[in-house]
Amino acid sequence: MGNVFVIDHPLVQHKLTLMRDKNCGTKDFRQLLEEVALLMAYEVTRTLPLKEIEIETPVAKCTSKVIAGKKLGVVPILRAGLGMVDGVTRLVPTAKVGHIGLYRDPETHKPVEYYCKLPADAQDRELIVLDPMLATGGSSIAAIDFLKKRGCTSIKLLCLVGCPEGVEALQKAHPDVDLYIAAIDDHLNENKYIVPGLGDAGDRLFGTK
Ligand code: PRP
Ligand code: URA
Repeated sequence: MGNVFVIDHPLVQHKLTLMRDKNCGTKDFRQLLEEVALLMAYEVTRTLPLKEIEIETPVAKCTSKVIAGKKLGVVPILRAGLGMVDGVTRLVPTAKVGHIGLYRDPETHKPVEYYCKLPADAQDRELIVLDPMLATGGSSIAAIDFLKKRGCTSIKLLCLVGCPEGVEALQKAHPDVDLYIAAIDDHLNENKYIVPGLGDAGDRLFGTK
């Protein structure tokens, strides 16, 4: 079963509270999402393997650590995952970025794919899928399905707000994928929105409602 890491860092929790407030406007929401993504990326990358290399400082030769292993890729789920890309790539500037376009059908609440463009070597990278919301889990599960169909094997999911239903569905569908999340809320309502959640992340990020 994949691990679930709830990132309870005070800065993450504080910024998430500001974002939940219905009076938080698009400008602040966008900035806070980027900041939270950066802080959470610090935790997601905590387990990256290191290796020793030899270097020469102005004073002496020594061995020192650098990141070893696979290169990173980040894969935002459109639209709302886009708001997390800059935060993550500020910490990992060499990460390549793939995009998966999905929206939830308003009637069925099932994800509908409309775009997929990944780095050519995505299957050789350690991928971090980005989406602020894990509601039914359908969108994240579908995005990870696409990645696995394209040969990707090393995948983590970084979300902001989830609920027990979404976490359970993710773990059932992709038991090999670790989840990093700032809060697991109470439940889904009849429209499959997270309660209390923060509303429609895409609309709040882009000001489309
Ligand atoms: C939102 C959100 C997730 C999805 C979560 O996207 O950004 O991708 O819903 O719900 P799920 O876990 O039930 O699949 P939405 O479908 O509203 O599309 P948008 O980002 O284009 O607004
Ligand atoms: N998508 C969102 O943006 N918010 C929710 O609460 C559920 C799905």
